[in-house]
Amino acid sequence: MRRVSLLFMSGFIPAVAMSFAVTVHAQSRGATPAAPAVKNPVPATAASVAAGAAVYKKYCAFCHGVAAKGNGPLAPKDSNPPDLTDATWLRGSTDAAIFTLLANGVGPAFLMVPFKGKIPDQDLWHVVNYLRSLGPKTAAR
Ligand code: HEC
Repeated sequence: MRRVSLLFMSGFIPAVAMSFAVTVHAQSRGATPAAPAVKNPVPATAASVAAGAAVYKKYCAFCHGVAAKGNGPLAPKDSNPPDLTDATWLRGSTDAAIFTLLANGVGPAFLMVPFKGKIPDQDLWHVVNYLRSLGPKTAAR
């Protein structure tokens, strides 16, 4: 009897350890949920696009160019700011991805600077709407 229960225990302990490991794994995955899909809260009206254009002129044109072709006169040497009027979004094409990029910048060098706290969120969404108005309508959103 004793021998049987020991055998049983020796099988049981690893099983408990394994289920514990699985549980911990599942919990650590649950602790980092996927970022919620943010929707652009600002309708792309003509007024929003105009507001975005004004913000763009002030904060973005010197790097990305007045016509957003990526040839601004004061872009840091060899930083090559992308053309924002083509259909290519190297860093994500949804409104939310563009908003996040404007807010956080692009590391590690941050030649594309973060604007969170410098430009109000509402204005950043206006800029997203402005950029949308420049590109081909075929660009994936
Ligand atoms: C100091 C120069 C500089 C300023 C100012 C700047 N950018 Fe950029 N931007 C860059 C550079 C450089 C990149 C490329 C970063 C990379 O991908 O490594 C970039 C990338 C981007 C991208 C990604 C393009 C893509 O294809 O995915 C967007 C969108 C963008 N900038 C918009 C803006 C807007 C809007 C502003 C103003 C609110 C702004 N930038 C201000 C330099 C700048």
